[in-house]
Amino acid sequence: MATDTDDDEIQKPLPQRMQDSMSQLGDDIVSSQAWNSIFRPGSIFRKGYTDSPRNRSYVIMNSVMYHLHPVKVKRHAVKVSYTLCLGGLSFFLFILLTVTGIFLMFFYRPTAAAAWDDIYTLQNSVTFGLLVRNMHRWGAHLMVLTVFLHMARVFYHGAYKPPREFNWVIGVILLTLTLLLSFTGYLLPWDQLALWAVTVGTNMMGYTPVFGDQVRFVLLGGVEIGTDTLLRWYVLHVLMLPFVIVIFMAIHFWRVRKDGGISGPL
Ligand code: HEM
Repeated sequence: MATDTDDDEIQKPLPQRMQDSMSQLGDDIVSSQAWNSIFRPGSIFRKGYTDSPRNRSYVIMNSVMYHLHPVKVKRHAVKVSYTLCLGGLSFFLFILLTVTGIFLMFFYRPTAAAAWDDIYTLQNSVTFGLLVRNMHRWGAHLMVLTVFLHMARVFYHGAYKPPREFNWVIGVILLTLTLLLSFTGYLLPWDQLALWAVTVGTNMMGYTPVFGDQVRFVLLGGVEIGTDTLLRWYVLHVLMLPFVIVIFMAIHFWRVRKDGGISGPL
């Protein structure tokens, strides 16, 4: 049965009815849970918020991206010329290497019979293959360089001294892991350079006192370099070492915050 209100609605001209439903839709959106969780107090999108220390803290703490940073930072710590962003660059390169590495994994099989051909096909027949391979290779060289320069910067500023000595040790582990990632990746193209570099490297490790032969056997997955070595180094390169380095990076970043932020003049 039609009511008076329905009759009124029907009698309204079409533009008026459209305008009403649009404003109803607007009210529904603004009062929805999704809207309120985006434009909540402290949100960077919320207008007309008073600029107080408390609200500034809200802005940082309530944003996924911002909460990675401390609510307050010392003025010198945000100067690019202090850290040269070398730690940040190392991290950026690690992300770049992860993304480009996943791309390469789509085209690469870690067997002595397929590896070299796969790289060859990747470079010559896959769209952007050469570009992504080179990004991965140059990125790896650059990461070794930035990690090393970052360590030099930390040393130059004396940032290895208490209370940051624990983070320095974590850093040394990160440097080792970075070098191991670089070295395990070196074998994967399975070309002459890779083969002989790894032969020399593992021969050197074979001279470890007391259990040198065992170390060499574990690294090679046999008595000489072959398809088992390739599989072993591949798994280390794409899975185990990245997994371990991510854990140590998380500890490293957490410690930077816990040690009172970046070092600097007191
Ligand atoms: C994968 C390698 C590494 C990554 C991604 C990394 C990342 C970072 C980042 C983002 C910071 C904040 C300040 C900055 O950007 O300089 C930092 C600080 C620090 N890093 Fe690293 N780092 C790495 C390796 C190392 C190494 C090899 C060392 C030393 C052996 C080290 C020791 C430290 C110390 C002591 C700090 C505190 C510096 C300060 O307070 O001035 N890190 N790291």
